[in-house]
Amino acid sequence: MKIENIRAIVTGAASGIGRCIAVELARTGGIVVGGDINVDGLNELEAESANLPGKIYGMYVDVANESLVKSFMSQAFEKMGYANTLVNNAGILQDGLLVMREDEGWLRKLPTAQWKRVLDVNLTGSFLMAREFAAEVIERDISPSLIVNISSITRSGNPGQSNYSASKAGLDAQTRTWALELAPLGFRVAGIAPGLTKTSILSQVSEQTQADIISKIPLGRMADPYEIWLAMRFIIECDYFTGRIIEVDGGADISH
Ligand SMILES: NC(=O)c1ccc[n+]([C@@H]2O[C@H](COP(=O)([O-])OP(=O)(O)OC[C@H]3O[C@@H](n4cnc5c(N)ncnc54)[C@H](O)[C@@H]3O)[C@@H](O)[C@H]2O)c1
Repeated sequence: MKIENIRAIVTGAASGIGRCIAVELARTGGIVVGGDINVDGLNELEAESANLPGKIYGMYVDVANESLVKSFMSQAFEKMGYANTLVNNAGILQDGLLVMREDEGWLRKLPTAQWKRVLDVNLTGSFLMAREFAAEVIERDISPSLIVNISSITRSGNPGQSNYSASKAGLDAQTRTWALELAPLGFRVAGIAPGLTKTSILSQVSEQTQADIISKIPLGRMADPYEIWLAMRFIIECDYFTGRIIEVDGGADISH
């Protein structure tokens, strides 16, 4: 696909990786609807796009809320005239060990609500967005089209992240499944699995943990969101790429 022909819906666009992808798409002339729960962040993003060749519209959506996703999707298509790309990027962390002995000897269990919320946003949210996007694309006979799911290298398991790792492993399974199901209908579906990346999600990860992770990364640093965008650009431009997940992790995944 040609980048300048992109009409994209990017979730989690108010911050970090999603914001970078939205801005870079608009920098190349693309039109973007950025969806997020952070309305202030969306307003700033919209204002920033005034100086770019393309355009970004900010629109509130909680990706875990089915009825909001449905109305968001039809409004997004209306706003842009049509859409041919979905980036499932919205994601959250709510880390905790499965069971943990507290200092007082009390056994803390990972609360079910903490497990569910991460699955609801990262996995079900991506499912709802992809289903509604695919339905609109097929109804309107738009081809070619593209879905990109933002995964994580911690999909293979990471202490303290049963919910997050499970959500990202499930997301990768959806990427491969949808690539098979939707290829005959003109879709490509791919993923990007970043390693540690400099965004506000890391405010929930202690400095010490970040330093420990960085010490094990062969390239010795975390990624910049722009480096995740470069993988996105490759996926857009390479029409033979589908069903695969690109790891952008400074070598972290091969070093242990
Ligand atoms: N930063 C990293 O180290 C890293 C590593 C691997 C994968 N990722 C993944 O990259 C993606 C983007 O994360 P980021 O690092 O840019 O974090 P971020 O916190 O900067 O951005 C996430 C955005 O998602 C939005 N969001 C959260 N819940 C939402 C909901 N229910 N509906 C709509 N929007 C919602 C937030 O408001 C925020 O703007 C996530 O899927 C994350 O899991 C990040």
